[in-house]
Amino acid sequence: MLVSAKEMLDKAKSGHYAVGQFNINNLEWTKAVLLTAEECKSPVILGVSEGAGKYMTGFETVAAMVKAMDKSLGITVPVALHLDHGTYEGTKACIEAGFTSVMFDGSHYDIEENVAKTKELVELSHKNGISIEAEVGAIGGEEDGVIGKGECADPEECKRIADLGVDMLAAGIGNIHGVYPDDWEGLSFETLDAIQQKTGTMPLVLHGGTGIPDDMITKAISLGVSKINVNTECQLVFAEETRKYIEAGKDQQGKGFDPRKLLAPGTEAIKAKVKEKMELFGSVGKA
Ligand code: 13P
Repeated sequence: MLVSAKEMLDKAKSGHYAVGQFNINNLEWTKAVLLTAEECKSPVILGVSEGAGKYMTGFETVAAMVKAMDKSLGITVPVALHLDHGTYEGTKACIEAGFTSVMFDGSHYDIEENVAKTKELVELSHKNGISIEAEVGAIGGEEDGVIGKGECADPEECKRIADLGVDMLAAGIGNIHGVYPDDWEGLSFETLDAIQQKTGTMPLVLHGGTGIPDDMITKAISLGVSKINVNTECQLVFAEETRKYIEAGKDQQGKGFDPRKLLAPGTEAIKAKVKEKMELFGSVGKA
């Protein structure tokens, strides 16, 4: 069932667990995440970056595929189709294309411009019955060619953005996208706590879920994180299992070259990874 992310995140916030956002790249990814959410009776958010949207030939294609797949698979758990790190134009395009949730990432603007643009997009999203995430303080690492530094957000600025009526807030707390470097200092729980104090019941979003140790994830949830984004980890297990299949020569046995067979081990690996994360985040059985 495609829904806005608001209700599932408000429930997660009050129930002290987090809903996973898993980024999708193609049909296999979408199917793997949807089936796992259904099996786990967990709410789920399908994240689509602008790059992935372009790869899948546009936001309209993505919305049509996800809606149809949700229906044909008979998915009963709440599913939000969410734009990840949207630009101003991309956010508007996804609202029009039928996404049920969007993220406007204005963190690279100065705070006044971030506030002005977020405010406008909050009104537009809510007029269309969809949820909106905003961001304060860049998340480090690389996402679609944009490199952030992994800074910590200013809690006062978080409050300003939260007060605009956004449904969820991403705030930098030393997290980065992709694999964490060996000298990573870990999440700043001091910053997270200060943000949570200022923003109250606002569901907070932790980007860069790949590679964050389990105990840090659990602590972040206890301090108000209600949505955790995971992308790279699914890509890594998909690549690893696909490589094993080919290196074992299985693509050369019988009809092993059939894409439905070739992509199956990687797809199964995504399912296992998504399930592991849903268990860790505490969202199993919460649909
Ligand atoms: P990772 O790729 O590090 O898991 O981050 C995903 C993310 O935050 C998407 O916005």
